[in-house]
Amino acid sequence: MGDLHLSFSTPEKSQERFGKIWKDHEWKAKKNIEKLVRPDDTLVLTGDHSWGNNLVQCQRDLEFIEALPGRKILLRGNHDHFWKANQTEKLNEMFKGKLLFLQNNFYTYRDYALVGSKGFCFEGPFFIDTRTDLITGYDKAAYEQSVKLVDREMKRLMTGIDAAKAAGYTKYIIFLHYPPTSVIQTDSEFTRLAEEIGAEQVIYSHSHGKERFHDSIQGRYHGVKYSLVSGDYLNFKPIRVLK
Ligand SMILES: [Fe+2]
Repeated sequence: MGDLHLSFSTPEKSQERFGKIWKDHEWKAKKNIEKLVRPDDTLVLTGDHSWGNNLVQCQRDLEFIEALPGRKILLRGNHDHFWKANQTEKLNEMFKGKLLFLQNNFYTYRDYALVGSKGFCFEGPFFIDTRTDLITGYDKAAYEQSVKLVDREMKRLMTGIDAAKAAGYTKYIIFLHYPPTSVIQTDSEFTRLAEEIGAEQVIYSHSHGKERFHDSIQGRYHGVKYSLVSGDYLNFKPIRVLK
């Protein structure tokens, strides 16, 4: 599951303003996770953990996550400002035995390599025909910038995949925070990579609200299973990735 968007130390940023699905959502998530996740299970949280801007503001949110059952693996979301891109190793040292941070590395589950990165997809600005609601164009400069961000995240993802490969792993589950494709794509660098390495699944989140839930791929596409796991999409009940 992804997008807990916790705000224990930043109540002014509470998600409740986004609708009733977010009312007491953290306690709904905790209850569901405690019911479904055993201590020896692995719980991957796909980013946007906390609204805090730094580790001090995130402390209570991260403690809330630490107290959840299972081995917790965290992915970096676009709102996770406490997680500086070059400090993943430092976070892994600081939270040793409590939380695992997935970026430029990999973790394992049985004979699977769990790899991941924040990912990225182009979110506009789009030009929309108000009569038909169809996208007629987009901001070219923003698009150019998005190509760079995709490239950077692909490199981070590849670092983990290469390390897993070198360690002898051949089965992969890919975790992304952003959806693998934007609303104007049917394929992307991420989907092509998933196909190329024979990843069994791609799990992503970030999309909130029913208008956004179907912006990217869900279900089986070119042999890979895609799942959206945003907290509000799942009504804060985590999905089981492997039987
Ligand atoms: Fe996000």
